[in-house]
Amino acid sequence: MHALSLSINLDLLAENIRNLRQQLDPKSQIIFVVKSDAYGHGIPEIVRRAYAEGVTWFAVAYFEEALQVREAAPHADILVLGPISPEEVPESIEKNITPIVVDPDHAKTLAGIAAQQGKPLRAHIKIDTGMGRMGPLESDDTSDIKAILNTEGLEITGICSHLATVDLKRPWLQEKQHERFVKAYTLAEAISGRRLMRHFCSSRGIQYYPEWDYDGVRPGILLYGYGCNDPRMRVQTKPLLQMHSRVMQVKRVPEGTPIGYYSSYRTTRATQIAIVGTGYADGYLRSLSNRGEALVNGTRVPVVGRISMNWITLDLGPDLDCKAGDEVVLIGAQNENEVWADWLGRRAGTIAYEILTAIHPRIPRSYS
Ligand SMILES: Cc1ncc(COP(=O)(O)O)c(C=O)c1O
Repeated sequence: MHALSLSINLDLLAENIRNLRQQLDPKSQIIFVVKSDAYGHGIPEIVRRAYAEGVTWFAVAYFEEALQVREAAPHADILVLGPISPEEVPESIEKNITPIVVDPDHAKTLAGIAAQQGKPLRAHIKIDTGMGRMGPLESDDTSDIKAILNTEGLEITGICSHLATVDLKRPWLQEKQHERFVKAYTLAEAISGRRLMRHFCSSRGIQYYPEWDYDGVRPGILLYGYGCNDPRMRVQTKPLLQMHSRVMQVKRVPEGTPIGYYSSYRTTRATQIAIVGTGYADGYLRSLSNRGEALVNGTRVPVVGRISMNWITLDLGPDLDCKAGDEVVLIGAQNENEVWADWLGRRAGTIAYEILTAIHPRIPRSYS
């Protein structure tokens, strides 16, 4: 039996949503980013609970994910943050899924299919204000933005952009992006002759720029409990997801015992080694070799040796009372000790996002 499991506390999600709502401009919608299976937390349960807590907008990366959201929340608004393909247009119209359009050709192609359906496709336009990713570049050449807005069969209802940087030491970077966004929506609204739904900030922008709440914000990581490590930040949230496993064997070994592939660790004293059921095949990153830590029976212990595909090894020290079957917290809290995804991310040279989304979807999840 696989020893690994995830527990996800939906009451904490509800609390996180309320904490964000309280700080947000009341006119601003929460567009909850649930792409990549809700950052590894599971789309259906996360969306259902968020919707029950009053979140009516959700954003995903791909059309397939939008269909999953639609099943969980039949009346929600759904935004696809990436370009959809022409085959996805009829179902987008039928299921009220709002894609992003990224250039005039894309707009024309989608509109062509919509025309065959005899119904307009509602879409948002994404402007590249400095991310260098999707959408027309905001510049003096406004022809692409104009062409998209004037595409017949397409009903542009919103405009957005994505911050590449929120750097408090170099605020001009995000300020420049914002300036471009203002220019773009001013132009777009003049062309379309109506007010569009404007949305600009993801988690870090939300924390530092309340004046940019606009008509919507697109939090992801913040609602999963990260991106608020400074207590002075505007919104405080708590992690929902904990990852547990079990000790499979405890072994007493002498000083100098090599541990794991290529003996990258040797015990420095007579000690106990615990073998624990998880490895890189589960998403426990190999870069945590000799760098991770876990919680066992109220004690924080180091991950030693290389992470292998299905097992990791912990150095328990000589005295810890531990036996096969005992619980190991890989992400989460035990007594007063905590190991969270952002800390693991720093240890692995990455970010909480990658720690969470790397967790293999086959690992059983329980919700409370
Ligand atoms: C366009 C867009 N908006 C919002 C988000 C959410 O970002 P965060 O999780 O930092 O809040 C993402 C995430 O990658 C994104 O690509």
